[in-house]
Amino acid sequence: MNNLNSTIVSETVLDEIVENHKGKPGMLLSTLEKAQEANPLKYLPRETLSDVSKKLNIPLTQVYSVATFYSFFNLKPQGKHSIIVCRGTACHTKGSRALLSQVGQILGFRYGEEDDEASYTTPDNEFTIKTVACFGQCAQSPVIAVDNVIYSNINSLKLIEVIKKIQGKKIKV
Ligand code: FES
Repeated sequence: MNNLNSTIVSETVLDEIVENHKGKPGMLLSTLEKAQEANPLKYLPRETLSDVSKKLNIPLTQVYSVATFYSFFNLKPQGKHSIIVCRGTACHTKGSRALLSQVGQILGFRYGEEDDEASYTTPDNEFTIKTVACFGQCAQSPVIAVDNVIYSNINSLKLIEVIKKIQGKKIKV
């Protein structure tokens, strides 16, 4: 369990980030981006959004709108590793739903039909699993990204290999 204080960007660090971006074009986006990077769990807690609002003199509703509009901002703690499964039409027809379920099976949770767009972080904070509408690589579907590396034409066996490699386990097939 993480101590709440350890998941919030310190006042000093946030002041420094704001100082570097205040008054510049795109200051809100850049500040949120750097604040997220500085957070050990790679997300923007409510406290950080509120602090950014005060320090940049931007209404909190506007800060929230930006943080929720862009998919690269996380409002929940993120795992050390990320697995993103494409759920676009091309990938869907090549079995991405089954891949998503398989990720769940390997990491010990169940991805229900209704959770298709949900993100899930394992209790040990090792993995965050998300979906995306399209990676723009439909010709190589199905496509997933693991720790920002794209794996195209992925199949069940390759998926197990990639995850087990991260987990440092031997693969038994
Ligand atoms: S639908 Fe998956 S990459 Fe386009």
